[in-house]
Amino acid sequence: MAQGSFANSELIVDDDFQVAKVDKRLFGSFVEHLGRCVYTGIYEPDHPTADANGFRQDVIDLVRELGATTIRYPGGNFVSGYRWEDGVGPKQLRPRRLDLAWHSTETNQFGLHEMVKWLQKVGGNELMEAVNLGTRGLEEALDLLEYANVPGGTKLSEQRKANGAQDPFDIRMWCLGNEMDGPWQTGHKTAEDYGALVASVAAGMRQMDPDLELVVCGSSAHSMPTFGTWEETVLSKAYDLVDFVSCHAYYQPYDGDMASFLASGVDMDGFIRDVAAAIDATKARLKSKHDVFISFDEWNVWYQDAEPSHTPEGLGNWPVAPHLLEDVYSVADAVVFGDLLITLLKNADRVRAASLAQLVNVIAPIMTEPGGAAWRQTTFYPFSITASLAKGGTVLEPNLESSQISTPKYGQVDGVNAVALRGADGSVSVFAVNRSLDTPSEFSVRLPRGLHGRSGLKLETQMLHDEDINARNTLQQQERVVPRANETAELDAQSGEVKLTLPPVSWASIHVKEAI
Ligand code: AHR
Repeated sequence: MAQGSFANSELIVDDDFQVAKVDKRLFGSFVEHLGRCVYTGIYEPDHPTADANGFRQDVIDLVRELGATTIRYPGGNFVSGYRWEDGVGPKQLRPRRLDLAWHSTETNQFGLHEMVKWLQKVGGNELMEAVNLGTRGLEEALDLLEYANVPGGTKLSEQRKANGAQDPFDIRMWCLGNEMDGPWQTGHKTAEDYGALVASVAAGMRQMDPDLELVVCGSSAHSMPTFGTWEETVLSKAYDLVDFVSCHAYYQPYDGDMASFLASGVDMDGFIRDVAAAIDATKARLKSKHDVFISFDEWNVWYQDAEPSHTPEGLGNWPVAPHLLEDVYSVADAVVFGDLLITLLKNADRVRAASLAQLVNVIAPIMTEPGGAAWRQTTFYPFSITASLAKGGTVLEPNLESSQISTPKYGQVDGVNAVALRGADGSVSVFAVNRSLDTPSEFSVRLPRGLHGRSGLKLETQMLHDEDINARNTLQQQERVVPRANETAELDAQSGEVKLTLPPVSWASIHVKEAI
């Protein structure tokens, strides 16, 4: 299509065809002991806004605004060498340890109790705790579970009380290790070995607390050579004992191929379908009545080969909280990010939990300066707007027609990706991206029949777009990129149609509700 001409796309919103109610866990995030996510991110006792616990209030305010729900903790690759006991008890007695995953020193000044307190302060967000199945196994997982969830009367539950927490933490969701298929993982395992270990850990944990929700490691990427066989082998051994399979996916442009990068949602969608197929095949083979869902517990744009992701090196060089993975996101990155959120929503029947990796400083929507400011990256906005409009809603079948665009990696794909939801309050929300690098799309949304001819409807739009797709927010220019209304949007109440132009490389939300 020639530059300057228009493409077309249409979404029909129909209440009769529903995908699933949105689980609020879909808007989870992730705090790993990595770089400055914890230290000088959420925890900085000397910061001017810090409370008595050392929690940065400016960051808490932004986390609330972001709308993140569940928080996965404490890793990530970090968890595969972590001893949870190091992070509890009097702070002056906590040991410093080498963190092999990120070639750093862990001071253990922040641990399980601090995380639980921080979540309470943020607003009662749910903790999703990961156990170490890299250097550790069943016994340590059971110890942690006893410490966290047993009300009292045992050695470890009494130790928790002595450490200041009378009530159990009552953690429901547990990750059984992290990316155990990855050769980079401390204690990396074959699918056979991990499947056998995870079956025994899951069974043991259920003996102590039968109603836990357990997440087994799926492949660490769709592109892993063991993808598929890993899922099949592990699930064959543990299917009835677990509730979720994890998926992880990170995207970046390769060799300057922006067209494929902007269509990353296509890969995520295929990944979800493939994992769902592996789950279904195992369920059928085992004649099981149990359902296993997907926990997409790491997703984002991440420039893995770029300078910010180079881990420290050298025998004597194990810094505390170094600047690591501090990607600064552009408008184009935020559009891809918005497309990934649309893709998760479209698959809300299979994906019941997801964690944006990560929350602060480390490939994060929120950035901080030690001792200084905290600000929103471009990716903050698609997340906060989608979370606020989609929570509590029901995803409707995406009945979408779009002009196609060509990508080197995925061939012909929809130029526009979109999803619609019906809110609990009766409002309709649509999220859309234009993946094209050069062609605007005339986007039309046909509202549900019940809204046709209704007076008193109000249309609100928010859009992330910039003439410079590389524009970013930085310490110096914290609000260089902010969402704005789409001035082209019009609602024809009689025909029940919303029309707007989606500029190239843009993300937009459309919200139609009763005017009050
Ligand atoms: O989120 C950064 C890292 O990416 C995590 O520690 C690991 O699980 C993944 O490879």
